[in-house]
Amino acid sequence: MNNIIAVASGKGGVGKSTVAVNLAVALAQRPERLRVALVDVDFYGPSVPVLMGGGGISPSPSGGIIPASRHGVKYVSIAFFLKNDDDPVIWRGPMFTKAITQLFQEVEWGEIDYCIVDLPPGTGDAQLSLAQLVKLRGALLVTTPQKVAVSDVQRALNMLRKVDVPVLGLVENMAGFSDAQGKEHLIFGAGGGAALAAKYHVPLLASIPLEMQISADGDNGVPTALSPRPTGELFRSLAASVVALTPAQHAAKGSLNVIK
Ligand SMILES: Nc1ncnc2c1ncn2[C@@H]1O[C@H](COP(=O)(O)OP(=O)(O)OP(=O)(O)O)[C@@H](O)[C@H]1O
Ligand SMILES: [Mg+2]
Repeated sequence: MNNIIAVASGKGGVGKSTVAVNLAVALAQRPERLRVALVDVDFYGPSVPVLMGGGGISPSPSGGIIPASRHGVKYVSIAFFLKNDDDPVIWRGPMFTKAITQLFQEVEWGEIDYCIVDLPPGTGDAQLSLAQLVKLRGALLVTTPQKVAVSDVQRALNMLRKVDVPVLGLVENMAGFSDAQGKEHLIFGAGGGAALAAKYHVPLLASIPLEMQISADGDNGVPTALSPRPTGELFRSLAASVVALTPAQHAAKGSLNVIK
């Protein structure tokens, strides 16, 4: 696997999963015919299966796991390994390690150019385990434009730097909302993403507006990145930026070399 990229944020509900899914789907649509994987390690609230519109894993004849496949993306979610959707799971450090190792090693990914990892909110065990176990090419940090989100993202940024994961850039989500008359309302404030980008010298890769249809697309399992709407174009342009930021490396190929 090349280019494993985590989508993170210090804060919950800012749109990490939405960004992760749309980035993966947009990468899969690129003219380079990229082979794309998506791994949902949100142990507390895995939402990728809904956003991707369903699908499931199946056992392979060789004893491994065949990932789900939708919208040109191969994916797995920790949800597939929980017995019931509403099972409360108390995750501890060694369980994270085991689960993350399984998701990367026991799934038959084949050759993959980009693997997008959707993280739970915060800067806790899951984030650390991932950074320690998997060779990450970098992380994208999602923030809303408001001050409280920005301070949480700052914490995530500092954590990533401590564990030597390069921050590829920021994605500002839930920026202005345009009403039916075309008037913009800055529901979560403005400028947070740009201020963070300037302070930490990381690029602001996209600023995605709050749009009812993005939320509906998520519920319908048809990612916005597939849509001709301007917001679909924003996700496609985010994918183009990510490709530009991750020039080919001479990494060894194969799916088993990702665990450190
Ligand atoms: N730009 C947007 N416009 C409208 N709704 C959005 C937008 N981005 C995300 N949403 C909606 O906001 C909610 C939270 O988004 P999402 O689940 O992607 O956030 P998250 O950061 O992954 O949350 P969690 O911390 O729980 O994992 C979802 O209902 C999603 O559909
Ligand atoms: Mg999420």
